[in-house]
Amino acid sequence: MPNWLNDAVFYEIYPQSFYDTNGDGIGDIEGIIEKLDYVKDLGCNAIWLNPIFDSPFMDAGYDVRDYKKVAPRYGTNEDLVRLFEIAHAKGIKILLDLVPGHTSDQHPWFLEAKKAEKNEFSDRYIFTKSVWDAPPEYRMICGICERDGNYMTNFFSRQPALNFGFHEITHPEWQLSTDDPACQATAEAMKDVMRFWMDKGADGFRVDMADSLVKNDDEKIATARIWRGIREMMDKEYPECALVAEWCHPERAINNSGFHMDFYLDHEGNGYSRLFRYGNFGDKSIFHPNGQGNLKAFTDEYLPNYYLTQENGYICFMTDNHDIPRVTAYHDTQTIKLINAFIFTMPGVPFLYYGDEIGMRYLKGLVSKEGAYSRTGSRTPMQWCAGKNLGFSTSDNPYLPVDSSDDAPTVENQKDDPNSIYRVVTDLIALRHQYADLHGNGELEFMTVSDHLAFAYRRGSLVMYFNPTAAYFETETRFNGDVIYQIGQAEISNGKIQMQPQSFLLLQT
Ligand code: GLC
Ligand code: CA
Repeated sequence: MPNWLNDAVFYEIYPQSFYDTNGDGIGDIEGIIEKLDYVKDLGCNAIWLNPIFDSPFMDAGYDVRDYKKVAPRYGTNEDLVRLFEIAHAKGIKILLDLVPGHTSDQHPWFLEAKKAEKNEFSDRYIFTKSVWDAPPEYRMICGICERDGNYMTNFFSRQPALNFGFHEITHPEWQLSTDDPACQATAEAMKDVMRFWMDKGADGFRVDMADSLVKNDDEKIATARIWRGIREMMDKEYPECALVAEWCHPERAINNSGFHMDFYLDHEGNGYSRLFRYGNFGDKSIFHPNGQGNLKAFTDEYLPNYYLTQENGYICFMTDNHDIPRVTAYHDTQTIKLINAFIFTMPGVPFLYYGDEIGMRYLKGLVSKEGAYSRTGSRTPMQWCAGKNLGFSTSDNPYLPVDSSDDAPTVENQKDDPNSIYRVVTDLIALRHQYADLHGNGELEFMTVSDHLAFAYRRGSLVMYFNPTAAYFETETRFNGDVIYQIGQAEISNGKIQMQPQSFLLLQT
């Protein structure tokens, strides 16, 4: 297990929207290099870079055309290596985004697989034996190539699923087993891609749709076997590199598959959504002034997973990601501050989505860009300062528009404001680094505060008290100590905690 994960705080960068240095309207690697000190000042010591590889961008780069080539619009492979080197010199690790389940339909493997005559790549993807064979239980694309067969997709139509085989074979005419040499070759090809970038200095990968490899594998038994093989390779050859799964099933991802980390994603009705995004506008979440949330709905789901996997890896809380509306779509500034207090004081490895540190808004009503659809509003350019495109680019035609409101948050206007979200986020990250009790593997004990929606948890010698509601709250406490951080108005004296609405208290006992 790479030790650095225990104190890691990640920053997710969507490269096309971060910082454009050559005026073409698209963020680039040079832009990330120029902003590394900014990332470091936030307190982040690791970056997850969304896909940066050659692609026709039908799904913002999650449709990879060449796994081993940086998309020219971002720079060159040499630029990426330079980014690794400069980041490392500043103590920042970089995870790339690995998309193992599918490629673009323009990937050379797929161009070969589409051909009528059999060749080395005919079984790299999943084709039926004839175009008249399109079993409705699979997502198939029909009649687009000279090969007589339909191909299975993994996400959008132009993202054919790579063939790692089928766990249960229901159509033997065209489904291969996972130990078929062609399926083994697919897994080897993915390892080859991983080695290619880790040899160049990448510190590992965020793995896209990590559970999607083997088909008809409901329990994910065969998919887990492939990942364990990959973990073995990493332990042997790249023991300092890390993998984080887009899976949201810690037992399967961490214990069964060997991922070092797994994301707690926003899935409707799960613990993450109940904390932050439950109800129409988050109005039924635990974090909401009028919240009707109930903490138990979260802890009943989270704690068993946490206990089950804490020896083997980390569950990752994120402020947001590029696939969901920003939290600003749901909550007021005070609630967002409290949410950050939660995310940066919980165990595991926290992820901060670019722009969340300044409370960037989810921009509604934008025309879809590069297959983003409803996700477009979370992918708008980073807002650095006053002026053209809020400092993102000098172009007249930026990747996406920036927030045009008069009070659009920028780094410049947030940085020195003691009441800003930026201030809270950077303070909390600094505290997380400072107190080992707040690190990824520090202990955790939830304390029932009462049936009021205020709650508390202890991590080593630190106790975190939250009152996310609009009502005043007080309770007896067995703890005594110094308040080392607070949001809103709250105090402790003579064994009593008194919390004004929407407040947070961090106590060192
Ligand atoms: C993941 C990515 C998402 C992408 C999809 C297909 O969910 O996060 O952005 O569209 O996979 O690769
Ligand atoms: Ca550019």
